[in-house]
Amino acid sequence: MDTKLYMVSLGPADPELITLKALRALQNAHAICVPTKSPELHFETSITHGILQALFKEFGFEKPLIPLFSPMKFQHKDWEAQVKILNDAIKTYGTICYVTLGDAGVYSTVYYLLDILKKEHPSLYEHCVVIPGVTSFSQASAKIKKPLCLGNSRFELVPLLDKDVSSTKVYMRPKTGTCTKAIEAQGELFTFENLNLPSEQIFKGKKECIEHYMTLLIDFNTHEHSS
Ligand SMILES: C[S@@+](CC[C@H](N)C(=O)[O-])C[C@H]1O[C@@H](n2cnc3c(N)ncnc32)[C@H](O)[C@@H]1O
Repeated sequence: MDTKLYMVSLGPADPELITLKALRALQNAHAICVPTKSPELHFETSITHGILQALFKEFGFEKPLIPLFSPMKFQHKDWEAQVKILNDAIKTYGTICYVTLGDAGVYSTVYYLLDILKKEHPSLYEHCVVIPGVTSFSQASAKIKKPLCLGNSRFELVPLLDKDVSSTKVYMRPKTGTCTKAIEAQGELFTFENLNLPSEQIFKGKKECIEHYMTLLIDFNTHEHSS
């Protein structure tokens, strides 16, 4: 299957903050699926649509746009409906993109859709590629020239809810040789070494000692995935 489904992060509402990888995916796709909050499926107030229009104009290309109704208060059936449209669009067009604001890994519908795809269309899931992007909070930090974390400080991402929820934890900036005994997985722990370099390694679990400075551990929360 050469056909691919790209989950494309567009960045925080500034077309210049899209990545080259995301731009190339949009240029190479045969159609682009665009979420809209409008039940009439128009794009008048859609930020994603505005970013796409700016990119089309600047880089001289255009693609058919497929609206996906994405209500503010969503239910499982809304994601099911979106997955059906994605699946139909792939059959009609071949390779397509789905676009999301900021980064796909941060509170994006992308992973609700991927959960359904994994169960109901495993082959399509295998042909799906997620392209990361600049988050809204990276942009906010840059705007006012204040770091999110520096030195020995940590950074917390807190959903504004009236209850306590469990976290995904990112461990980074280790010293080579650091013992990882104190890191106890609460969810699914993965290690990422030398990402995007020839010696990249990604594996479930952890090594007893950190071998490379370019190591990240992420303990993915597996409990709080509902809306
Ligand atoms: C559903 S989350 C999506 C987050 C996005 N995926 C990201 O990487 O930033 C939406 C929330 O992100 C924040 N957000 C996203 N874009 C923003 C922007 N342009 N300005 C301020 N906050 C923004 C707001 O807190 C908003 O309620």
